[in-house]
Amino acid sequence: PENVGILALEIIFPSQYVDQTELEEFDGASAGKYTIGLGQSKMGFCSDREDVNSLCMTVVQRLLERNNVDLKNIGRLEVGTETIIDKSKSVKSALMQLFGDNTDIEGIDTTNACYGGTAALFNSINWIESSSWDGRLALAVCADIAVYAKGSARPTGGAGAVAMLVGPNAPLVFERGLRSTFMQHAYDFYKPDLSSEYPTVDGKLSIQCYLSALDNCYQLYGRKFQQRHPEETTKGLDRFDAIIFHTPFCKLVQKSVGRLCFNDFLLTSEDKRAEKYPGFERFNQSTFENSYFDRDVEKSFMTTFSNVFEEKTKKSLFLANQVGNMYTPSVYSGLVSLLINEPTENLTNKRIGVFSYGSGLASTMYSIKITENLEALKKFTSKLDYVKPLLESREKVAPAEFTKLMEVREKNNHAAPYEPSGSTDVLFPGTYYLKNIDELHRRTYERK
Ligand code: ACO
Repeated sequence: PENVGILALEIIFPSQYVDQTELEEFDGASAGKYTIGLGQSKMGFCSDREDVNSLCMTVVQRLLERNNVDLKNIGRLEVGTETIIDKSKSVKSALMQLFGDNTDIEGIDTTNACYGGTAALFNSINWIESSSWDGRLALAVCADIAVYAKGSARPTGGAGAVAMLVGPNAPLVFERGLRSTFMQHAYDFYKPDLSSEYPTVDGKLSIQCYLSALDNCYQLYGRKFQQRHPEETTKGLDRFDAIIFHTPFCKLVQKSVGRLCFNDFLLTSEDKRAEKYPGFERFNQSTFENSYFDRDVEKSFMTTFSNVFEEKTKKSLFLANQVGNMYTPSVYSGLVSLLINEPTENLTNKRIGVFSYGSGLASTMYSIKITENLEALKKFTSKLDYVKPLLESREKVAPAEFTKLMEVREKNNHAAPYEPSGSTDVLFPGTYYLKNIDELHRRTYERK
């Protein structure tokens, strides 16, 4: 099969959010810390009415209905998530409730922090390109509820779900031979306490790990690109028309674009640097390893190349800024944001770089080539017209009320039997929600 890629794309996010300016005040943080310092405006969150199963059911059902997908035509269903409820029982198995008589669907869950969605996607692509493929389509689903204990990490939460229908002759095509991966053992962020939804996180280390993974993936991608396309003269970031990132908070991504420009600088031979980077001689002795928290490097590359951020990345941060870190769907919310904020005419034949990162750590950079068929692309992007109005229709919740709802989740995590108390009135129409949990921890859902 040729041109394997994304045939349809669906995203959902919580119907309630807390305003980050109000949260700064409520937390006693200095004004601007979350909004300017982290680059976040609003944070979506779920009450105890929603869990990872319900988020996945909502997004998958919406994708199936809105694209008239024949249930029998799904041959693989993969879920990437780090939100664990039944441990040995997959979220994928819960999604089988939506597939009627079609029980012949391969795939289960994949977990490694925010990377699982990309693993689910790769498994889907690989299946279609393999000898196991039976001609049907694959669905890659990613969903998470990102919540942190009270403290400095709490404003970097969020929640959401993305479903991607994968098959041949797609408008968004995964470029073959251009995946570069960096994986390493690290305790930057993990969830050793199985009784809690909250991670154990070393914030500073997690940022260092993210940036080091970015450096490694980017450099390897460049080498693979060179091998695969020796005829192409464009180098470095110019290879990408847009570049999207896993987004723990928007400021980190803005810094990451600067970081990639710093990569291009260090990868330029010293004799050519003076011409291309006047005034940057002081960075000739810098190295990747000694510069993760070098303020001068960070600021100089970020401000000098702010146009690169504006051109290639800013539009993709729309949902991350409005919803927060969705974990596994985060990088794909970047894809949706780009598609709904860039005029479709500008997108044909473009190459999008993708950087997916999950703590612990697993990361990959790869690229998507957009079709040159404008009609096909318009048909695809017009299906995302619902995103902005849905976002506008959310309900704002005061930080004190948000904190109470978080305490309810915290207190009742893994409780059984359990009747959720969160309102169903606030949920968007078509949302699956948790009706109850019986004494054997079996969950029942209803749809609004
Ligand atoms: N106005 C403007 N900016 C401000 C203000 C203010 N009043 N106050 C602080 N800031 C800036 C700081 O200078 C800093 O920016 P800088 O790094 O560019 O200088 C930024 O706001 C954040 O302030 P810090 O003091 O660094 O924040 P803190 O250490 O309290 O927490 C952190 C930040 C570590 C990101 C925390 O929220 C966290 O642990 N989050 C979860 C981990 C995470 O998301 N890691 C990213 C990769 S891994 C993953 O995806 C989970």
